[in-house]
Amino acid sequence: MEPEDFAIWTEKYRPQDFDEVKGQDEIVKRVEAFVKKKNMPHLLFAGPAGVGKTTLSLVIAKKLFGSRWHENFLELNASDERGIDVIRVKVKDFARTRAIGDFPFKIIYLDECDALTKDAQQALRRTMENYTQTCRFILSCNYSSKIIDPIQSRCSVFRFKPLPKEDIHKIIEKIAKHESLHIDAKAKEALYEISEGDCRKLENIMQSSAAIKDKITEDVIYSVASAAEPKEINDMLELCIKGSFLNAKDKLLETMLNHGLAGLDVIKQVQQQIWKIEKLDNRKKLEMIKECGEAEFRMVEGSDEFIQLEALLAKFVLINS
Ligand SMILES: Nc1ncnc2c1ncn2[C@@H]1O[C@H](COP(=O)(O)OP(=O)(O)OP(=O)(O)O)[C@@H](O)[C@H]1O
Ligand SMILES: [Mg+2]
Repeated sequence: MEPEDFAIWTEKYRPQDFDEVKGQDEIVKRVEAFVKKKNMPHLLFAGPAGVGKTTLSLVIAKKLFGSRWHENFLELNASDERGIDVIRVKVKDFARTRAIGDFPFKIIYLDECDALTKDAQQALRRTMENYTQTCRFILSCNYSSKIIDPIQSRCSVFRFKPLPKEDIHKIIEKIAKHESLHIDAKAKEALYEISEGDCRKLENIMQSSAAIKDKITEDVIYSVASAAEPKEINDMLELCIKGSFLNAKDKLLETMLNHGLAGLDVIKQVQQQIWKIEKLDNRKKLEMIKECGEAEFRMVEGSDEFIQLEALLAKFVLINS
C-alpha cells in the first residue's frame, strides 16, 4: 500500500488552490484579489463547520508565501490555547519579527474566536492593533454575532455557507473517480442529505463507507453515518398519524438501536422528514415541528432522551387525532 492509502481524506482532498475551493465563489474572488495585490486587511471568516474557512486561509498563505508559508503562517485555536494570555504570548513571539522573505506581513489564523469571552476578545483587539505593522489576522468563528463590534469593524467579514448540492456532488464525483468507487444516484442524494453541505462530514462518511465496500449504496452510507434511513423515520411518523402509538414506539426503538442513534440525531431527522409528508396539512406540520423544538431543548438541558422521544410521538398522535 502507498502511504497515501492511509491518509485521512479530509486532508488528502483539502483544496490546494483557489479554484478548488467550492461553493464560496464570491469570497474566493475577493480574497484572491487581496493575494494578487499582496495586501490584505484583517479578515473574519464566519460560518458552519467544514465549509472551507481553514482551507481558504491555508491557500492564502501558500499562494502568498510560496515555499516559505510555514514560517510566515501561525495557526492557533482560541478554545484550546487555555485562554487569551497564552494566545498573546504566542502572537507576540511570532509577530515580533518581520516576515521571512520579501513579504509585507505574516498571517495569524485564529480558529474558534467565538469561544473567547468578551474580555478576552477586547484583549485580542488590542493585540491585533499592536501588531498590525507585521501581521494580518484571519479570525474564524461559527457565529459572527458572538464577536464584539470593535473586532468586526477592524476586519473584512466573510460569511461562508454550507456547500450547495451541485458542489457536494462534484466533490463526491472527484473522490469517487480517484478512489475507484462506484456511487449510485441514490447514494449521492443520501450523502448530500446527511452532510448538510459540510464537506468534512461528507468526506469522513465517504471514507468510512469505502472501507466497507467499493460499491457505495444508500444502506452503507446510513449504516456508517449514524443516521436512520428516511424511510424508517417516515414509517414511524405514518404510524403516529394513524394513531398507532405503540407501534410507532417500537419502530423508534428498533431504528435507534439499529443505527446507534442518539436522541438528538433522531429529532433532527424527524424534523426534516415532517416537511416531506405530503398528506399532512401545513398547520399540523407546524405544530409537529414546534414540538420537535421543545423536545430538543429539553434533551439539550439533560432530560432523558427516551422519555422525551416517547412524549414527542404521543404529541404527534394527539395532533393527528
Ligand atoms: N469549500 C470547500 N471546497 C472543497 N473542499 C472543502 C471545502 N470546505 C471544506 N472542504 C473539505 O473539508 C475539509 C475541512 O474543511 P475546513 O477545515 O476548511 O473546515 P472549516 O470551515 O475550517 O471548519 P471548522 O469550523 O470546523 O474549522 C477540508 O480539508 C476539505 O477536504
Ligand atoms: Mg477550521
